Amino acid sequence: MTTTAVILAAGQGTRMRTTQPKVLLPLGGMPMLYHCLDRAQRALGPEDGIRLVIGHGRPEVIEYLNTLDLARRVQTIRQDAQLGSGHALHLALRSVRATDIIVVMYGDAPLIKPATIKRLIRRARDGATVWLTAVMEQPQGYGRILRDTKGRACAIIEEKDCDARQRRIKEVNTGFMAGRAGHLRSWLKQVLAAGGQNKQGEYLLTDVMQLAYTQAYQIATVPCTNRTEFLGANDMWQLAQLEKQLQQERVRALAQRGCYFLHPDTVCILGSDRSVRIGTNVQIGANIVFSGAVRLGHNVRIGSGCFIRDTFIGNDTQILEACHLDDARLGQQCTIGPFARIRPNSAIENEARVGNFVEIKNARLGTGSKTSHLSYVGDAQISAHVNLGAGTITCNYDGRVKHRTRIKDGAFIGSNTALVAPVTVGKRAVIGAGSVITKDVAADSLALARSPQRTIANYHQLKQSRLLTKTPKA
Ligand code: UD1
Ligand code: CA
Repeated sequence: MTTTAVILAAGQGTRMRTTQPKVLLPLGGMPMLYHCLDRAQRALGPEDGIRLVIGHGRPEVIEYLNTLDLARRVQTIRQDAQLGSGHALHLALRSVRATDIIVVMYGDAPLIKPATIKRLIRRARDGATVWLTAVMEQPQGYGRILRDTKGRACAIIEEKDCDARQRRIKEVNTGFMAGRAGHLRSWLKQVLAAGGQNKQGEYLLTDVMQLAYTQAYQIATVPCTNRTEFLGANDMWQLAQLEKQLQQERVRALAQRGCYFLHPDTVCILGSDRSVRIGTNVQIGANIVFSGAVRLGHNVRIGSGCFIRDTFIGNDTQILEACHLDDARLGQQCTIGPFARIRPNSAIENEARVGNFVEIKNARLGTGSKTSHLSYVGDAQISAHVNLGAGTITCNYDGRVKHRTRIKDGAFIGSNTALVAPVTVGKRAVIGAGSVITKDVAADSLALARSPQRTIANYHQLKQSRLLTKTPKA
């Protein structure tokens, strides 16, 4: 008996008041749809399939889908006119075996736990048509569960169709449900044949419960124990609440693995649920954004106000406040920042130091090398134990192409040096401060490329006696 997860995601999401397709709106840095697919796939077995009903924004959704690995498992179903969730599911059930189990998910409720989906599938395998329900103090916007005198669930009524008494019911339909494909197909046919009967004239999937009840099929409700995993996003404020919830879950998971957070509410993790990996004794400051694959080794400390994307940080390395790290590999026992920017394709090797107002791009900074203040190191290969003085600039761009700067082991670059690439500075070479280096410097030599200093004695007296009418000779 195989299972098919059907994700309903064709709706326009009018209440979002944006032109983007609703399921592509971001949650935790990924489109909402990503989370639905990821969670569905984690609940399913290898033989099971996913069907995705799309309509509004279909080309964009397909384009996004094609970027995902799991797209191979997903069959898209086209719903051109959004005639309601019942109509959407009806389209998705074509050519599904009658005995298969169908689990229905909504594209705008992406926080569902795979374990909860599995619970629904198990109950449906046991023969029931099952709905995930929840009790909410503020049930506004949700369909309400009606129960008969014996307490059995017998119908779902959408809020817009509720009378005043029904509106006070706190047990709601979360939207998630499961049942046999054959049963669902036959009930949905009846829903369609009856013609949309609610106030909006839509074909409602929720009407299936009443049909199952009146035809004496076994109905089960599974209470959703986690109060937040079924939350849906119909407007931007609800989406913001989901974001808060997701971030809290991600940060909590890291804290439970021993990570210290100074101010957990201000840490954002953008990417998949498993995109940040940490070693032991990691400490994280306030106002931090992690994006994509981030690995933090043992004893790593991240100061407040950092943005860190697709970066690997080795053991015992410290990132001080306000750093921006993007696609970088940092070794062990390095110190970075405060106010450092490391741009893509950069490697900082063990015990290196990158200080304040330093920008590094497409460069390697070798073991124990230092660039402590106010420098630009781009398209450069800095070997081990090199000191780049304050204000060292690699002039990598001639207006057309980029060139590389190479600085060999133990070289010392004086402050405010411009290195006009392509250029190589040999081992242990010394560059005098303020030099503009345009030619290679051999190992063990001193290079000075600045105009010699002139000193004019008694300058003020000379000026007063008007002897200084012309520029004096040195
Ligand atoms: C729906 C439920 C409601 C439940 C709530 C939980 C129905 C009729 N109502 O209400 O009982 O409490 O979710 O969040 O199901 N969709 C399509 N095609 C359509 C219409 C909708 O694919 O023709 C998709 C939407 O993209 C969305 C989902 O179905 O992902 C639910 O539709 P939505 O309009 O958001 O329903 P709600 O009013 O939230
Ligand atoms: Ca919804």
